[in-house]
Amino acid sequence: MPGKILVTGGTGYIGSHTCVVLLQSGYDVHIVDNLSNSHQDVVDKIARITGKTPGFTRLDLCDKEVIYGFMKEHQDITGVIHFAALKAVGESWEYPVRYYHNNILGLLNLLNAMHESGCKNLVFSSSCTVYGQPDELPVSESAPLKKALSPYGNTKKMCEEIIEDHVTATSLNAISLRYFNPIGAHPSALIGELPLGVPNNLVPFLTQTAMGKRECLKVFGDDYSTPDGTGIRDYIHVTDLSQAHLAAIERLEKEKNTQPCEVFNLGTGSGYSVLDIIRTFERVNEVKVNHQIEDRRPGDIEKVWANPEKANRELGWKARLGLEEMLESAWKWEEALAQKH
Ligand code: NAD
Ligand code: UD1
Repeated sequence: MPGKILVTGGTGYIGSHTCVVLLQSGYDVHIVDNLSNSHQDVVDKIARITGKTPGFTRLDLCDKEVIYGFMKEHQDITGVIHFAALKAVGESWEYPVRYYHNNILGLLNLLNAMHESGCKNLVFSSSCTVYGQPDELPVSESAPLKKALSPYGNTKKMCEEIIEDHVTATSLNAISLRYFNPIGAHPSALIGELPLGVPNNLVPFLTQTAMGKRECLKVFGDDYSTPDGTGIRDYIHVTDLSQAHLAAIERLEKEKNTQPCEVFNLGTGSGYSVLDIIRTFERVNEVKVNHQIEDRRPGDIEKVWANPEKANRELGWKARLGLEEMLESAWKWEEALAQKH
């Protein structure tokens, strides 16, 4: 019988897609979110997709008493998927202390509250940013972690380490999932990414340019050592990513984990360049994207893609959707947003 899962940051981009698959798989879901980067109406959208309404509590994980009180009141929670964090790389350079405060303190309070209430299963949102520019590609989990490229990236690295130490000292079981580049949206176009202000990431900027909200997409550098000179990433459909969270929490709930603290790469194993993305987007959606080559963006790495074999083998999970489906769904979501405004 599936248990009750607490999803922190569950009204956000990846969290909302994960709530959908959890509910569809019979889990009871409770979301906590401070709505600093999302809207409460996402809860209704999740309910429209699944026919089930998740619980929702607006709270800030940095408020220790509140999260302690919440966990005490919800003793039936069997596992936690922790998405809640600030995630804008550029902003983290402007406000590093805000990023360390929110992302580290939020995790510490959550770990303590879980410990107090006896909740033993945690899935954590990490990032491929912990590898920096890897020495070998595709990158596997055993690759050395590099100095973080931003305060945001450092919070991910530090959180992984905190979780590892806490697992050693307590009966907590944890899985850190290192996402490569999540893009796309739910096929219903009811939920997707809601970037506030000017997007930093490639795909939201691209869809907004195609929609006419932005004049021109800047391609950051065409002099990298890649076939077309532009940066290469491993883009993964957010619905595939959400399925991996289901697999991870199930692994913990069924005590199938082989170590108390595990790490998995979540990518497709294929890398695509910025120009691949633009061309594929234009072709599948039959819409032009005004773009021009600009200087490299400081802090960017040249190329990275995952070796996802460990997740394929041990989580029994594999990314199924290709670039075309990712970029079709991203455009459908942008069109849905345009109809709302
Ligand atoms: P998102 O901003 O859409 O979702 C995060 C949610 O957490 C938001 O709804 C926000 O309101 C909430 N939140 C932030 N701080 C909080 C706090 N102190 N208390 C309660 N709620 C809080 O981001 P996302 O893209 O869905 O990312 C989810 C997680 O995955 C994050 O931890 C992020 O760092 C990580 N991640 C994301 C990507 C990506 O490209 N989107 C890549 C790698 C890792
Ligand atoms: C970014 C973050 C990383 C985070 C990841 C997933 C930076 C430096 N890194 O990675 O920490 O884990 O998101 O959320 O922000 N590009 C353009 N034009 C644009 C935007 C991007 O050419 O307007 C290029 C980039 O140079 C890169 C690729 O597109 O080659 C992908 O960029 P982006 O979507 O921002 O993701 P990452 O830089 O991989």
